[in-house]
Amino acid sequence: MSSAPVLDHIGIAVESIAAGRAFYEALGLEVSGEEEVPGQGVRVAFLPVGDGRLELLEPTTETSPIARHLARRGPGMHHVCLRVADIREAMRRLAAAGCELLSAEPQPGAHGCLVCFVHPRSSGGVLIELSQPAPSMRDE
Ligand code: CO
Repeated sequence: MSSAPVLDHIGIAVESIAAGRAFYEALGLEVSGEEEVPGQGVRVAFLPVGDGRLELLEPTTETSPIARHLARRGPGMHHVCLRVADIREAMRRLAAAGCELLSAEPQPGAHGCLVCFVHPRSSGGVLIELSQPAPSMRDE
């Protein structure tokens, strides 16, 4: 990898963004944008925190991974997202190390990013999202 991954965001599953954002806004954080990601069955809201962000995830379908997470575990921390310069290279390196990836190819994420999730079995019980920014987002 040409450069080490950096923390992009922490994903938090919420029943609704409208209700879930209130706590963070009471702390003085602000929602910078909301977006629907149809491929993942979620609506997301980002709240910048220093160099990173929180991502609130609300399910838009009953079969979305977030709906299943809420049903099994209730609201709470869902994943940690690490930003990489070259997601396919990162996926190759992890696969070569024996890690289990949840998709064979990068998937479209929020803001035009390419994303891939690593199975928590391979990452110490933490669901890890890898994200490669869209070309227009680089160096922002
Ligand atoms: Co995420």
